[in-house]
Amino acid sequence: MQQEDMSIVIVGHVDHGKSTIIGRLLADTGSLPQGKLEQVREKCRRSSKPFEYAFLLDALKDEQEQGITIDSARCFFKTKKRNYILIDAPGHIEFLKNMVTGAARAEAALLVIDANEGIKENSKRHGYLLSMLGIKQLCVLVNKMDLVDYDNKIYEKIVKEYSEFLNKINIVPSHFIPVSGFKGENIVHKSEAMNWYKGSTVLEVLDSFTSEKPQKDKPFRMPVQGVYKFTKEGDDRRIVAGTIESGMLHEGDEVVFYPSGKKSKIKTIEAFNEERRKSIGAGHSTGFTLSEQIYVRRGELAAISEQKQPEVTTRIKVNLFWLGKESLKKDKEYYLKLGTAKVSVKVEEILRVLDASSLDNKTSQLVHRHEVAECILRLEKEIAFDLSHDVMSTGRFVIVDNYDIAGGGIVLEALEDKQSWVREKVIMRNYKWEKSQISDERRAEKYNQKSTLILITGEKGVGKKALGKALESKLFEDGKIVYFLGIGNVLYGIDADIKSNSDNKREEHLRRLAEVAHIMTDAGAILIVTAVNLYEEDISIIKTIVNPEKIEVILVGDSKKSALDYTLHIADINPVESNLNRIKKMLQDKGIIYKSM
Ligand code: GTP
Ligand code: MG
Repeated sequence: MQQEDMSIVIVGHVDHGKSTIIGRLLADTGSLPQGKLEQVREKCRRSSKPFEYAFLLDALKDEQEQGITIDSARCFFKTKKRNYILIDAPGHIEFLKNMVTGAARAEAALLVIDANEGIKENSKRHGYLLSMLGIKQLCVLVNKMDLVDYDNKIYEKIVKEYSEFLNKINIVPSHFIPVSGFKGENIVHKSEAMNWYKGSTVLEVLDSFTSEKPQKDKPFRMPVQGVYKFTKEGDDRRIVAGTIESGMLHEGDEVVFYPSGKKSKIKTIEAFNEERRKSIGAGHSTGFTLSEQIYVRRGELAAISEQKQPEVTTRIKVNLFWLGKESLKKDKEYYLKLGTAKVSVKVEEILRVLDASSLDNKTSQLVHRHEVAECILRLEKEIAFDLSHDVMSTGRFVIVDNYDIAGGGIVLEALEDKQSWVREKVIMRNYKWEKSQISDERRAEKYNQKSTLILITGEKGVGKKALGKALESKLFEDGKIVYFLGIGNVLYGIDADIKSNSDNKREEHLRRLAEVAHIMTDAGAILIVTAVNLYEEDISIIKTIVNPEKIEVILVGDSKKSALDYTLHIADINPVESNLNRIKKMLQDKGIIYKSM
């Protein structure tokens, strides 16, 4: 049988002995390449430097650069029980980046405290982060016991003090161990100098950690990395690719993609460089084909329909850890990355700020470096995710400020936003949608156009309708499949049942208009809609219903009176002919229609 793997992260304040302990573990379990230890000792002797176990890691790193076993942050060793991947977390910032981006999927942690120096701020911060990131198995190593004459009182004092801290953040460490990385005491071999300690060695504790439950009982989650076309001519199939973050996938499963709610069935599982298989689980990069073609894109989250579904919204309550040099502030634009989704984000509210080492609470309008804050974030676009206590890997995110990872955190709560009521309906509509056998692309090819919603808006009396109708005629004469829809066409027909005194009258009008637009664009048409004074909020409703990539906004009249994000601005509809040519040029530039030969 294949042995299981377990990733362990090793954290702690600078110089408290993380690398030394890893070096020791490797040396004393006989996991080093032959002659490595002697070679490093010899090198130290020649340069009259005292030997350090940490040098072993550097030596191994150099080898790795030549393509051998070890990479910069990770070391491997085995026991009879399993294979270990030790993740050395040197700088603070690197540590968090690794943890949060999931590069280090540690299942357990060793936290090192120098007995001589005692508990430092970082000892606490790291503890806090482990708890925040949901790492529940923790062993605390009180290191450098040789420097304090193996005094059990010093050890007990640290145990007491640090336990109190961990208590407050709801972590119960599985063990405390007094060790000396340097002398190799209680690492792999029991210490004679500390015969007052009756507990396990580090190695024994590692073997006592339990491997995370097979992810089978967790819901299936795969953030979509990309959708690739089979390269063979005439092959219409697409492979949806990504890494499975949790759960299992089987051929025939019904999958739903969020935020859209579109569903299909798994036809085949296409693992890379592997034989065809009928099922695949968490941790694997994979791809699959679908039995019905649906439009899916990077950033969506795949789930299985009978299982717990992910959350979808633009507002989230989070706990985040800030690392940026510049403090986190409200209303500044950052990027949030979660799974494969990347969206623009602003802080709506900072609810409370916590010092991760003193655990002091305060209210503040800024979050400084190394502080933790509970905040409400507002995303520019909806994303799909999980609450961190449901599925950690799709419930954590990083925040990017100016290309740099400036913070990371976990999602505590999905909050309602203004589009929640529409979104629910759209997800259900997509879920229940009866799919055609004709794909979007086939339609586009046949009709020689990409279906699009052209929204013409502006103040009353600026000539929107005249322009819209003229555009319809022009495109029609060009052979396009095009239709003009004035808002009045919907108002007295489809909307006839909406009471004039109902609360959400405007929103409901817009929702229905957008649903009509969704059907028309799905049918392959270019639909021209005119509406008075659309606001950004109105457009948000429409974008929740119609694929935002299929919407072009044309603003007519005075652009100063509108804060709208438009594709094209026409100050005066006259001369109509030249404006129609401008619109046509825009449609050509966007690849919606093609230049005639
Ligand atoms: P950073 O990676 O810089 O955060 O440090 P680290 O935590 O990896 O510490 P490292 O293992 O490099 O050890 C720092 C210093 O402490 C080195 O000089 C080690 O020799 C020394 N040291 C580590 N463990 C022990 C120990 O058990 N006893 C004594 N006396 N010295 C130790
Ligand atoms: Mg180190």
